[in-house]
Amino acid sequence: MRTDDDSWDITESVGATAIGVAAMRAHETRRDDAVFRDPYAEKLVAAVGSESWGRMLAAKPRSDRERLGSAYVNGVMGHFLVARTVYFDEYFADAVADGIRQIVILASGLDARAYRMRWPSGTVIFELDQPKVLEFKATALADSAPAADRREVPIDLRQDWPKALLDKGFDPSRPTAWLAEGLLRYLPGAAQDQLLANLVELSAPGSRMALNIGTGERALSPELRERRAKALAEAGIRIDLEQLWYPWEDRRDPREWFAEQGWRVSPGDPEIVLATHGRTVPEEARPDMGTHILMTAIRPRGDDTL
Ligand SMILES: C[S@@+](CC[C@H](N)C(=O)[O-])C[C@H]1O[C@@H](n2cnc3c(N)ncnc32)[C@H](O)[C@@H]1O
Repeated sequence: MRTDDDSWDITESVGATAIGVAAMRAHETRRDDAVFRDPYAEKLVAAVGSESWGRMLAAKPRSDRERLGSAYVNGVMGHFLVARTVYFDEYFADAVADGIRQIVILASGLDARAYRMRWPSGTVIFELDQPKVLEFKATALADSAPAADRREVPIDLRQDWPKALLDKGFDPSRPTAWLAEGLLRYLPGAAQDQLLANLVELSAPGSRMALNIGTGERALSPELRERRAKALAEAGIRIDLEQLWYPWEDRRDPREWFAEQGWRVSPGDPEIVLATHGRTVPEEARPDMGTHILMTAIRPRGDDTL
């Protein structure tokens, strides 16, 4: 059961979802036809030291058809997770190509972009997450050097995170590329509104935002839902996403929200993202893909025409 001030480490509650996403990235990385490579993901998941996740990591990459019925990390949800990783990687690559050097990753979890992506010199990356989650990642990657000036901001995103961010040297006069990947449904609607309002206030003209959010209940067929639950239970993993998520109905659609703020919104399509990388989404996974919003938004500079 969620509460307004709950907290967690990497093995508990919302924290454990970060392991699931990293396990998927590790799994994708091992495919011969991987559409991205995250060499840190396997190390991070292994550092959790859990037999269950270890078993899942050790599973041989299989065909999409087999994968669909096999497990959560490499099943239906896996296709969306792969798509969103590529989409956000490209978003950051575009942002730095356009001269942005200030990056903020909200709810960074086990995201290793600060380590694995190419960042121009002078790039500062702020990572915000619960203190214990950041501590875990810092320990697990202690012998790796980030590829940018990486600054941790241990904070609950329902609290006064702008102050904590400013205290770490965030400069609101410079354009920023923000990311909220796999975060918003873990916040109540009011906390989402507050978070986005704070973010807009801290965004100089030319700043941009990328996010994803699942809408409503998953459109998994009862059969797929059961297969997913069974596969997870067999692996000894207990994550009940539906218990950790706050309702979709209590919140604004971020696409409309950003458009109302005068930001230029571009919706993304996970199927197209995968198709441009040569990956076809199996028929069974399509309904679930359709329940996820992927978007970027840009705050126009004064001289931009809308
Ligand atoms: C599904 S994981 C996503 C992690 C990362 N963005 C990724 O995609 O790999 C959700 C993350 O959100 C973080 N999170 C959720 N609610 C939060 C809150 N109120 N304050 C800080 N972190 C939060 C969790 O700790 C966890 O790391």
